Amino acid sequence: MVVADARLRDAVDEILPGVVADRRHLHEHPELGFQEVETARFVAGRLAALGVEDVRTGIAKTGTTALVRGTGDGPGAGKTLLIRADMDALPIQEENEVDYRSKHDGVMHACGHDAHTAMLLGTARLLMERRDRFAGTVKLLFQPAEEGPGGAKPMIDAGVLDDPKVDAALGLHIAQEQPLGTIGVRPGPAMAASDGFTVTIRGKGGHGARPQSTVDPVAIGAQIVVALQTVVSRETNPITPAVVTVGAFRAGQAANVIPDTAELRATVRSFDQGERERLAERLEALVRGIATAMRAEVDFAYRFGYPPTVNDPAMTAIVRAAATETVGAERVLEPDPIMGAEDMSYFLERVPGCFFFVGSRNPDRGLVWGHHHPRFDFDEEALGTGISTMVAATERYFAGA
Ligand code: NI
Repeated sequence: MVVADARLRDAVDEILPGVVADRRHLHEHPELGFQEVETARFVAGRLAALGVEDVRTGIAKTGTTALVRGTGDGPGAGKTLLIRADMDALPIQEENEVDYRSKHDGVMHACGHDAHTAMLLGTARLLMERRDRFAGTVKLLFQPAEEGPGGAKPMIDAGVLDDPKVDAALGLHIAQEQPLGTIGVRPGPAMAASDGFTVTIRGKGGHGARPQSTVDPVAIGAQIVVALQTVVSRETNPITPAVVTVGAFRAGQAANVIPDTAELRATVRSFDQGERERLAERLEALVRGIATAMRAEVDFAYRFGYPPTVNDPAMTAIVRAAATETVGAERVLEPDPIMGAEDMSYFLERVPGCFFFVGSRNPDRGLVWGHHHPRFDFDEEALGTGISTMVAATERYFAGA
């Protein structure tokens, strides 16, 4: 391992057992979005013990912020860098047989947000110890409900980007697709926007043997599902990524009864605002056109969800340099953009920042199951890599490098 700052690596090694213990405690006590009451209490307790300043709790229900003020000098004096972690778990029954298995039935940290929370607490601890090495202020932010409906936006609406005003933002996610010991980071769009829609086709039900006296919403829905794909395959530039997935198609009960209605639910992924608006407009036009041509009425409800997660080039360069220092250039990867979404995007819409990935996959230990799987678990060495990179990136940011 190439480590320019051996002292940082030693400091991380020293706190790592505590970070692992925190992660396991959080893993045992997962809470769903906006219900992270015990998690937030745990976080606030740790922050108070560290002696960080201005701990604020109950922001957007369970969100928490606190400040670490650097005492050093440098070009970053007067600037504030936000570092964000998410705290929520998923409605999944854990299938791992480990000491730290979830104690809450049907709830599990299956995405690694326990890791993110523990890493930010570890990062806070090191930044407190190393306050004299940077100027400026770090705003630590622990947010609820990343898995939905989203805690970042309500925290921003509650004013977390002010007082002190935030100039830039960093966040990370452990990545089970990436080998342990790697950091993945890319400038520009890193994760997709997540939008979606619901269609209710209102036909006219009747006997399955007398289609002539009905308007069949199943046949109409089937036409719509197939036609929607042409918005991607025939109308979208092939080098511009987009996904339309109809994940639910509900209609009818019996083989010989044509129902009155059918409902489709779909998710739509893309990478920029213009594309989001174009897709919404074209999908609606197609749905309405087909339903109308086939004599049905239609309710169409489109929902714009998380925006795309877009990394600022200068902030990305800082993270890349920090990662190179931490894991070595050959272990700094530039992964393809991901069609999944993240509400870190709301922070990156407002301030320049970077969201990066910390490899956590270790096949030698059977730690290969993906995010949101009931057997998801990761190699905890990734916690140290994430903290080292975050601390190094923070110091570089304030040093103006
Ligand atoms: Ni996640």
